[in-house]
Amino acid sequence: MTAVSANGGNRPAASISVTVSVNGRRRVIDCSPGDTLLEALRSPLGLTGTKSGCEIGYCGACTVLVDGAAAHSCCLLAATMDGREVTTIEGIGTAEGLDPVQAAFLETGAVQCGYCTPGFVVSVKALLAENPAPSEAEIRRYLTGNICRCSGFAAIVRAVAAVTR
Ligand code: FES
Repeated sequence: MTAVSANGGNRPAASISVTVSVNGRRRVIDCSPGDTLLEALRSPLGLTGTKSGCEIGYCGACTVLVDGAAAHSCCLLAATMDGREVTTIEGIGTAEGLDPVQAAFLETGAVQCGYCTPGFVVSVKALLAENPAPSEAEIRRYLTGNICRCSGFAAIVRAVAAVTR
């Protein structure tokens, strides 16, 4: 296994090595103390399905699962991920084999520009793991950590409801 650096060449040399399960695969990441999990995932791991938006924990574009719970990867330090299990959108479905949540987003027109979609899908996976039959109010409350700037919330809620039918 080859260690990869999360600092992208723009920061001081990496000084911490963490071993993380990413989408079921053991990865060793060399990072600097200030590197976020979002940075580590996008570069050098190349998992660019996790999007960078506000970078302050507001928009949810960067949502991933950490040990099964939805988390804003922009607010987590990569150095704290040693021994954790991280799941990104790449670990949920593929173009050839969509996850049922992804398929429902497509079927209900819940994708507009698509930038927020990976974060929403990851959050919905966490929601349904906790509560397989959420009410509309529960769906809306759970997804308050994700923002769709295209204002596609109604279709997104319909998509989640469709998965639970
Ligand atoms: Fe992490 Fe917006 S980029 S919450």
